[in-house]
Amino acid sequence: MYPIERVEALNVEVTRMVVRAPEIARKIKPGQFVMLRIDEEGERIPLTMNDCDPEAGTVTIVFQAVGATTMRLARLKAGDALMDFAGPLGNPTELEGAKRACVIGGGLGTAIAFPQAKWLHDHGCEVDVITGFRNKDLVILEDEIDAHSTRQIVMTDDGSNGNKGLVTQALQQRIDEGANYDLVLAVGPVIMMKFVAATTKPYGIKTLVSMNPLMIDGTGMCGGCRVKVGDEYLHACVDGPDFDGHLVDYDDAMRRGVMYRSFETAAREVEAGRVASEGRDCGGAAAAASAEGERKGA
Ligand code: NAD
Ligand code: FES
Repeated sequence: MYPIERVEALNVEVTRMVVRAPEIARKIKPGQFVMLRIDEEGERIPLTMNDCDPEAGTVTIVFQAVGATTMRLARLKAGDALMDFAGPLGNPTELEGAKRACVIGGGLGTAIAFPQAKWLHDHGCEVDVITGFRNKDLVILEDEIDAHSTRQIVMTDDGSNGNKGLVTQALQQRIDEGANYDLVLAVGPVIMMKFVAATTKPYGIKTLVSMNPLMIDGTGMCGGCRVKVGDEYLHACVDGPDFDGHLVDYDDAMRRGVMYRSFETAAREVEAGRVASEGRDCGGAAAAASAEGERKGA
């Protein structure tokens, strides 16, 4: 069993959880993920590491309560334990050699992009972090990013934080100002990563995107997580999750992303019904139930 040491709501949709897993904490690197299972009845879900502390033996995950399992996860408390917590899985993000990087996080993707920004900053790279949220109440990890970046730009779709626009507008502005990036890394909605890659392509800036298709086994066996990259289909779980942003077929990824939506919606409704019948608050999970289901990091 893997004891939960701390649970904290970062906003109405997003929870941060610190899990005791010393073996994984020693090995896991930015970009890698774990597969967890709450109990023997639960499904296995992939969640990308947000932070780790090898000395304390803990791994931090951040997730959005949008599917049946993440809704259950958000209801656990410090002192509870997870049955399975397997990893590290996937390949670490290739960050070596970058001198001027821009790390972009869209919504929850911000939590997944944070360890890369931290690693780059700790290794002497100049790092701009651009994040985007629907409104100011959803902004997460501002203090942590401030401590591990050269510059932080927070955009909101509705302008409620005084900075209206999408992450791509901030990125274009920084490029126009002469930021001269040698690496851009984007984590967030597929549509955001598509337009980040389209923004950097004319300048030939190396661009990595973290793909989060539905994952079942996380070991390359089931084929569920295929992503079209150039002329081939690759598996996000063993070949990724990061891919060359200029080669990913985002439209194919979005088509595949809706394939399991009816199954996910049904599972979520069952869980929401269970919460309601228990008369317990699930930390805004039911309110978030209009979003998509269980994917890596979501
Ligand atoms: P969201 O839909 O609120 O979008 C966040 C930000 O992305 C927006 O504020 C905006 O700045 C940017 N964005 C959205 N559409 C854009 C477009 N067309 N062009 C440019 N920028 C755009 O995000 P959310 O509700 O927090 O949802 C999180 C999303 O991130 C989910 O889709 C989830 O699947 C995904 N996610 C991805 C990963 C990954 O590994 N790639 C990990 C976790 C979450
Ligand atoms: Fe099954 Fe990747 S999750 S092949």
